[in-house]
Amino acid sequence: MTETGSKQVSKVEQFWNAFQACVEENRVGPDRSVFYVRWAQEFVRFEPGKRLRDRTRQDVEAFLADLRERPGVSDWRARQAEHALKILYEIFIPGYAPKRTTTPAQGSEKEIPTEETGPTTSGFRDRVIPGEVERLFSPLLDAARLAPSGSNAQPWRFKIVRDQDTKLKLVQASHRQSFIADAPVVLVCCVDIEGFLNGTVSGIQDLGKIGAIEGRIVKILMDRSGQFKTMDMEQLIPRITFNLAIAVEHIALRALDFGLGTCWIRLLDEAAIKGIFGWSDHISVVALLTIGYPDESPAPRKRLKIEEILID
Ligand SMILES: Cc1cc2nc3c(=O)[nH]c(=O)nc-3n(C[C@H](O)[C@H](O)[C@H](O)COP(=O)(O)O)c2cc1C
Repeated sequence: MTETGSKQVSKVEQFWNAFQACVEENRVGPDRSVFYVRWAQEFVRFEPGKRLRDRTRQDVEAFLADLRERPGVSDWRARQAEHALKILYEIFIPGYAPKRTTTPAQGSEKEIPTEETGPTTSGFRDRVIPGEVERLFSPLLDAARLAPSGSNAQPWRFKIVRDQDTKLKLVQASHRQSFIADAPVVLVCCVDIEGFLNGTVSGIQDLGKIGAIEGRIVKILMDRSGQFKTMDMEQLIPRITFNLAIAVEHIALRALDFGLGTCWIRLLDEAAIKGIFGWSDHISVVALLTIGYPDESPAPRKRLKIEEILID
């Protein structure tokens, strides 16, 4: 290989390494980011010789359509590829430009697409295909179902809301946070208080029987579950709620695997939401979770540094 050739290879490698880092910054784990790079590389190979900056929305659509036709490419893989291209065009390439210290060589893959020649961001935006999110419910709800819970009580319950009228009612019952109605699916995330009280007892018994917890702890937990029955709701509900929070976050994380975005909503009027569905007292509404293909890729929000979350 000539010196120029090897430099070129290394520039291309740098491009993909930087893209992988960008993917990971956008909440895709390192175990999956490698596949994002592969999808983007496959997109490059799809039309050999045509530079990224010269490709149009039609090229992207043609690639994704081709992918969906290929045997062995499941729906979620195609969604992952779509998410990869979304990050590539909406975040990585424009975001890469200001950080550059050198001008890209003519013809290199590192050239930044221009507004005129690159796919427009709106090419991906608002791209919610009815039915697609719903099809993914089984793995999302499975992620919740498999979440751990204290005494294996599994107190989480969910209501799936897809119809616009109910979504608009949820908006009203959540301080008019109108974006809720824009999501194709809203999950009403609840706890079942009776289910928790019963589930705790049977859960402790089962765990004791199989030896997952020792007899001494079974006794302590049983005593404590007796105390739950005498607690008022203000004391009891937080004890139940953190179990639900784990399950909801399982859903949120699993959703990322499919390129879906979620948003937790806690600012809500619980009584009003219960009124919409006519739920009885043993159901407590804890949060809403909107689910859909994101129409934006916001920059990561501020987070504390590791040293700030460690207590000396
Ligand atoms: C428990 C909880 C409650 C939240 N409630 C709301 C809400 O009512 N309305 C809203 O717009 N966002 C809500 N959010 C979203 C947060 O504002 C968001 O997660 C936070 O700004 C961090 O941004 P990031 O998740 O994009 O990193 C909530 C998030 C959590 C975890």
